[in-house]
Amino acid sequence: MSTSALLLVDLLTAVACAAAWAGAAVVLILPAAPRQRFLLRLSVSGALLLFVGQCLTAGALAARAWPLAEEKVDYALPVQLLTACIAIALAVPALRGRPLGAPARPPALAGSALVLAAAGAISGVIARVLVGYPFTALAALVLTALVLLAGVVAYCFAAPRSTRERTGAAALIALVAVVSVGYAWLDDVARPGALAAHAHAASSSTAVPAAVSVADLRTPTDASGTLRRFELTARHQTVTAASGATVDAWTFGSLPGPELRVTVGEVVEVTLHNSDIAEGVTIHWHGYDVPNGEDGVAGATQDAVMPGESFEYRFVADEPGTYWYHTHQSAADGIRRGLYGSLIVLPAEGVPETADLTVPVHTFGGAEWLGDSDVARIEAVAAGETVRLRLINTDQLPRTLRLTGTDFLLAAVDGRDLLGPTPVHDEAIRVPAGGRVDLTFTLPPGGALLSADATTGAAVGIGPAGSSPLQLAVDRGAPEVDLLSYGERSVDVPTSMRDEVMVLDQLPRFLGGIPANAYTVNGSVFPHIDSIEVSEGEIVRLTVVNRGRDTHPMHIHGHHVLVLSRDGVAATGAALWLDTFDVQPGEVWQVMLIADNPGIWMDHCHNLDHASEGMMMALTYRGVFTPYDHEHITG
Ligand code: C2O
Ligand code: CU
Repeated sequence: MSTSALLLVDLLTAVACAAAWAGAAVVLILPAAPRQRFLLRLSVSGALLLFVGQCLTAGALAARAWPLAEEKVDYALPVQLLTACIAIALAVPALRGRPLGAPARPPALAGSALVLAAAGAISGVIARVLVGYPFTALAALVLTALVLLAGVVAYCFAAPRSTRERTGAAALIALVAVVSVGYAWLDDVARPGALAAHAHAASSSTAVPAAVSVADLRTPTDASGTLRRFELTARHQTVTAASGATVDAWTFGSLPGPELRVTVGEVVEVTLHNSDIAEGVTIHWHGYDVPNGEDGVAGATQDAVMPGESFEYRFVADEPGTYWYHTHQSAADGIRRGLYGSLIVLPAEGVPETADLTVPVHTFGGAEWLGDSDVARIEAVAAGETVRLRLINTDQLPRTLRLTGTDFLLAAVDGRDLLGPTPVHDEAIRVPAGGRVDLTFTLPPGGALLSADATTGAAVGIGPAGSSPLQLAVDRGAPEVDLLSYGERSVDVPTSMRDEVMVLDQLPRFLGGIPANAYTVNGSVFPHIDSIEVSEGEIVRLTVVNRGRDTHPMHIHGHHVLVLSRDGVAATGAALWLDTFDVQPGEVWQVMLIADNPGIWMDHCHNLDHASEGMMMALTYRGVFTPYDHEHITG
């Protein structure tokens, strides 16, 4: 069974178990229903069976990854075992059918013991859907208190006790609940964010004195190389698509922004101007591991560039590959509206292919664009030419792309060449949000066709004059290439690494003081997610567990990570160094990060709606501080 399905079965079993205990309590408390004893026995044995079911699902989940099972094993199962034992002990006479208490009165003790068991089971459900991972001692304490109080209240009502006692017990429950929610709210609005420890003012109080400001982690002014200068101006622009549709866009001058194509050995200087984007803009070089001060994260590495202002980025072209750039201010909205473009870094000797095409995939409104077009178009390339096709997913969701008409090689992923690529025949390529893939092939006389599963409108035919590549039949049922087993393995993985865990989930949380079904990492939302703190040179094994029901394309700024395993299965293909990896529901990824680029780096889901709903945190180097205000980081 898939982990997602197992999580769902576990949750449903827990809910059904709670319902069975509650049913038993109702049967017992209500004045003698016909067949009361039969119904009572039925619901109690059902509840016990469902408890055993939860033990099995929790065990299976724990075997896959502890964070999938922690709150179940540490809390939900023990509390249910305990309350179930109490309930059965006290309800045995009722189950056996012996008369209980005064004839006209419900068997108070037995009834409230069943309520206690129901409360225990309900608290197990709450532990799953409200607390999640990590399951803290405080959460255990609060939930246990609520369970006990529920039993007491039930007894006060069933016994029956005086109105004062009843009200007192009920008020106590309400008090615990209100205080917990209030505490969570205060914690959200009043506790300083995780980056505060790296803010300038607080730096003196940290154990390691923060000596370096991100503002000083810039490309050295004397970096040698041929200077390449670009100017990008962010502005509102109404763009007419190839189909004739108009897009009310935000652009860097065109849609997509101009492709920046540079060569290893050059020093790239980009001046960003903001003409009229009131929200402010920055440029983040997605996947290109620049010095921290050039990373373009407003609130961490610079201030947002407001209308009329400008900012100059500089970096050395030294990592050939396919990258992209985008605003990192109001990024979900800004990128969606068009503030992005591609960054191509060519090796010093150029690429071996004679045709080199870049195709960013993007959705405007409901229309999918491949490159700068929302309709099918043809790129003229002669038969026999070698082609490099650079695919960039600039959308929020994973995209499945297909190249029909030719076999091809997966030459590079996320700007890193793959070793020993083998011909791919009729298989689809899944590109996570933010990810890139380079395909290479020799163009056959009939041409080739690039298509995206998300659209039948846009497509790119690549073909010689006279060919009709757009007519090629696409097999949309063909499977996806699994990158973890593609290519040739040749990689030395260090034996000792420090472990860090990131557990992704969707949980009710306060987000800027407002209740939301937020996207969480380790149970918290930005800016309260504890940073991963490293020293330069450390090697970290990151285990990323997705407990939620959405795919999370996790993006790490400033670093590429080496994929070690997925769902416990070790990677066997070419070393896969990614900056964006898609953690699908229930998946468990292990990746290795080498801390070799000091700074304060954001890690977040590149479904930027998720990022702005909490799923964003930082990787921070000891000794680095930021003079910028992290409260201004926006997803
Ligand atoms: Cu492509 Cu932090 O983003
Ligand atoms: Cu996400």
